[in-house]
Amino acid sequence: SSAFLAACGSDEAASGGAGGDGVEEMTIKFSHVVAENTPKHQGALAMKEYIEAESDGKIEVEIYPNSSLFGDQEEYQNLVANNVQFIAPDLTKFVGNNPQFNVPALPFMFDNDEEAIAFWDGEKGTEILSSLEADGVLGLKMWPNGGKHLTNNERPIESPDDVKGLKFRTQGGQVLEALYSELGAGSESIPFSELYTALDQGVVDGQENTFSNIESKKFDEVQKYMTVMNHTRVDYAIFTNTEFWEGMNDATREIVEAGVEEGTKVAREEAITLNQEAYDLIKERGETEITELTPEQVEEFRKALEPIYDEFEEEIGADVYEAARKASG
Ligand code: LMR
Repeated sequence: SSAFLAACGSDEAASGGAGGDGVEEMTIKFSHVVAENTPKHQGALAMKEYIEAESDGKIEVEIYPNSSLFGDQEEYQNLVANNVQFIAPDLTKFVGNNPQFNVPALPFMFDNDEEAIAFWDGEKGTEILSSLEADGVLGLKMWPNGGKHLTNNERPIESPDDVKGLKFRTQGGQVLEALYSELGAGSESIPFSELYTALDQGVVDGQENTFSNIESKKFDEVQKYMTVMNHTRVDYAIFTNTEFWEGMNDATREIVEAGVEEGTKVAREEAITLNQEAYDLIKERGETEITELTPEQVEEFRKALEPIYDEFEEEIGADVYEAARKASG
């Protein structure tokens, strides 16, 4: 039918939709761990809709949210094995592969999404995203979620001292772990799918996350206190399997690549909106007592966490620090 439309000079052919001419039939899987009303899922959904429409349904994109296909501990190896073609993990979950993925955990480095995006779209960021090539994994584009905030069950946290003696769940090790030990607290890395139960059962006292993740997984139901901190971030990148990516013919890859661009655009837009909405919803629900720090209190945390920068400079690199500081203005 596309040849017929093209011959008729239809709008569709003229706009380059081409009805999937030369496009391979395939099913692509996208697996992630968060809920559906999140920037990551909305980005994935936009990507799916674009690719399916542009390929005239020849390419089908299946999205598996909520760790329903693979959780934190399985998604990477299944991408390497090409059992899934796209994942978009929190970058701090890759610190074991390359310590430069600690950048989103550097305390108070970025004030907002825009600064983080500027870093990951820049030369150093792109280099870091490319660093998994030896595993046959290609980092395509950064997708933000947002700044993280502290929740816990013991007490309102207003100063570094209040964190002492508590135990927090982290997404990954290294900088996040060091950050808590710097404050005299303990930490444990726990998969996202097990976090609600871990908080509910007191395996850990608290955790740090974006408003969107806290609200969509109802962590506020099992956490008495939340401090708005914005000290670290959840940032993702969309990763694909290199063999899969390079194995597509040009017509197919063109559509998939444009789909990734569309998903990136939507994920970046939705991150801001969904986090704002989530914060309002958490307030409305009233399950958790919220502390908003004064600029002086934030400064106390900033000072207390300053030693982290020296501790990791060698591992992460002075050049990476410099690029991040430049991006953050
Ligand atoms: C978490 O594990 O808390 C987050 O990294 C989950 C996610 O993908 O946003």
